Amino acid sequence: MTNLPLTARLITLEGGEGVGKSTNMAFVAERLRATGREVVVTREPGGTPLAEEIRGLLLAPRDEAVAPDAELLLLFAARAQHWQTLMLPALERGAWVLCDRFIDATHAYQGGGRGLPAATIAALEQLVLQGRLPGLTLLLDAPVGTGMARAASRGAADRFEQEQAAFFERIRAGYLARAAADPARVRVIDAVQPLAQVQQQLSGELAHYLSAVAPGAEGQA
Ligand SMILES: Nc1ncnc2c1ncn2[C@@H]1O[C@H](COP(=O)(O)OP(=O)(O)OP(=O)(O)O)[C@@H](O)[C@H]1O
Ligand SMILES: [Mg+2]
Repeated sequence: MTNLPLTARLITLEGGEGVGKSTNMAFVAERLRATGREVVVTREPGGTPLAEEIRGLLLAPRDEAVAPDAELLLLFAARAQHWQTLMLPALERGAWVLCDRFIDATHAYQGGGRGLPAATIAALEQLVLQGRLPGLTLLLDAPVGTGMARAASRGAADRFEQEQAAFFERIRAGYLARAAADPARVRVIDAVQPLAQVQQQLSGELAHYLSAVAPGAEGQA
């Protein structure tokens, strides 16, 4: 396991609003821990005190229009702090890191949703992550209406949730484009299914991934 590339131990959960990311974080963490692995569970934007403060700035509804570039830079400021002070040290000591949203969300939300150029995002991605990507990304995919209905049951809408349906359609398409471009890493899970079936599919993807990166090293997920 020590021979694994650093980011092989980084697993991300992605998807639009209300598809079930937070619901399934604990499940995936538990499956990983059951194989004896140390797992650090975190989220973006956020994950450290400073990055969580930036999350608050990003999500708070406000009268002032937020320039897309300002949103992007805030996200990458939070990511730089999270990456350098929490994620990278955890990966370097051999822990597994499970993150609720990460770089694919920026491509989907700020690229697809806001329409920022891929090259702009790629430049910041290079600055902050230096080419590192998760080993496995579990993309929970559902029609926009399904996720929105689930999210609505949770209370007041944040600044992103206040957007129109077309914004979320572009995000969904952005995520699916990421999966199509990198199908071995980004695994699409049908999040419309009942939770038990979603989790069965998550387990299957995780077991397949673990047996590929660390064959026979430890118990299966
Ligand atoms: N497969 C499922 N079937 C039905 N309901 C579900 C399913 N998965 C999650 N839910 C419910 O949908 C709601 C939203 O789930 P959750 O908060 O996990 O989504 P999320 O992707 O983390 O949302 P956000 O994008 O806002 O962070 C919760 O009430 C959860 O119980
Ligand atoms: Mg969530």
